[in-house]
Amino acid sequence: MATAPAIDPTLINAEGPVAGEVIVTSNLWKTYEMGDQQVHALRGVNLRIKHNEYVAIMGPSGSGKSTLMNLIGCLDSPSQGKYWLNGHNVSELNDDELARIRNKEIGFVFQTFNLLARATSLHNVELPLIYNGTPAAERTARAKEVLEQVSLGPRMMHKPNELSGGQRQRVAIARALVNRPSIILADEPTGNLDSKTSVEIMALFAELHEKGNTIVLVTHEPDIAEYAHRIVTIRDGVVSSDHPSARHAAQTS
Ligand SMILES: Nc1ncnc2c1ncn2[C@@H]1O[C@H](COP(=O)(O)OP(=O)(O)OP(=O)(O)O)[C@@H](O)[C@H]1O
Ligand SMILES: [Mg+2]
Repeated sequence: MATAPAIDPTLINAEGPVAGEVIVTSNLWKTYEMGDQQVHALRGVNLRIKHNEYVAIMGPSGSGKSTLMNLIGCLDSPSQGKYWLNGHNVSELNDDELARIRNKEIGFVFQTFNLLARATSLHNVELPLIYNGTPAAERTARAKEVLEQVSLGPRMMHKPNELSGGQRQRVAIARALVNRPSIILADEPTGNLDSKTSVEIMALFAELHEKGNTIVLVTHEPDIAEYAHRIVTIRDGVVSSDHPSARHAAQTS
């Protein structure tokens, strides 16, 4: 489904992306101003992620994981440093271009699902397509297709409070997939789920990875991180370690 992005050769320089890299950050800083206090949530993050990688981001509470995910997902902008998404220098895009690239390239999954409580699964999944003006018939067809892909065809007309936690997260994953993004970002997607349901959700991410998506997932749980192929640890706003997961290292050695 997803194809490797073409990288504009004029954008390539020493710090920028090389062919096949979809996420490249260079000395990324994020400072929050709190009255007269400054909180340095990120202090120079350098990270390079290739197309179809499966990366888990770990680290203590408050280390900057969600801040980094929000920057990677273009939900927020850095205070300093550079970020290239699929070869585009994000700081050089205007708001419209940024919205377009975010919509097209990225699907976001959150710990708390973030579904509209009064809307059916179908309507929740259709929402991103309403925002980008997809005609109604196509919208419904595509929403049904992704709900079936996450095995929720029979629950299409249920509202979030008529679904289990795992089913709610699958609706949220279907919503993230409906624009056919190449990159899935998930911030503690199993944080509110029991371990059996977490395993089901991780199986779904594995399937998406096999289909060609790039996946970046934040987790506190070492067991969950082991599903990824690469584990990046953030401490005090910088990358403190970056290595293959034990499971992946064992499979490839
Ligand atoms: N909007 C904000 N305004 C001010 N400070 C913030 C804001 N968001 C985060 N911070 C601070 O930035 C730091 C990093 O926060 P972040 O949410 O990225 O951590 P995290 O690694 O995701 O933690 P957790 O594992 O608890 O989710 C923390 O010290 C936090 O208090
Ligand atoms: Mg967080």
